[in-house]
Amino acid sequence: MNQNPEFRNLNETSQIAKTAKARLANLGLTLKELEKFGLVLDIGAKDCYIQRAINEQWVNNVVSVDKTFPESIRKSSLNVLVNDAKRLEIATETVDLALVGASAYYYTKTEEETLAILQEINRTLKSSGQQRVYPARFGHIIKKLLTPESDFAAAKSLAPERRSKKDIEVIMFNDHIANLKSLEFLTDRGIFAKMREGYEPNAPDNFKHYLTIPKF
Ligand SMILES: C[S@@+](CC[C@H](N)C(=O)[O-])C[C@H]1O[C@@H](n2cnc3c(N)ncnc32)[C@H](O)[C@@H]1O
Repeated sequence: MNQNPEFRNLNETSQIAKTAKARLANLGLTLKELEKFGLVLDIGAKDCYIQRAINEQWVNNVVSVDKTFPESIRKSSLNVLVNDAKRLEIATETVDLALVGASAYYYTKTEEETLAILQEINRTLKSSGQQRVYPARFGHIIKKLLTPESDFAAAKSLAPERRSKKDIEVIMFNDHIANLKSLEFLTDRGIFAKMREGYEPNAPDNFKHYLTIPKF
């Protein structure tokens, strides 16, 4: 490992940008595109890589939100908000873009929980605002498909390197069903949404799609 601090910083900088770009690509965005937005919330930001990468471009439009942050992040100069997505301390109709990458929606257990998050994020959006959600599904829908006796649960329980071609097909099929059911969950409630593939192809058994949900 290079002990020179300047080299360590450079390595860290490129790692932050690389990870941020991959997270944004999953949401159908680039860093350049993100720069053009007004206020952006990164919900479930964890290590705040998206905010850190955009700040490196001398842009400061991202607020990182998570229900828990390590002390090092809470005490840093980063713009962070310790909030659950179900209750955001953000003024109504002030946000241009809300990113939800592998976070709040992914972990919902009930319809009510998914709806509470949807409505709370929607409340913060300007009339021209939108949510981007990756992967394009809600946790409560996956939970219904992952019944203990299902082929899906059996395939998911295997370590990735032990999955057969058939297991991967079962996972991909059920992921597709989960995406369609998640889209249907929105349209059944009169909420318009679009499902698209991210910018960069992921591993074959990884998630590919994200949702765009304009202010409703
Ligand atoms: C797997 S990490 C995702 C990190 C990053 N967004 C990414 O794309 O890799 C999930 C993060 O979401 C946060 N999270 C989960 N549910 C949440 C909720 N309801 N409200 C706010 N944050 C939530 C967790 O605390 C965790 O930091």
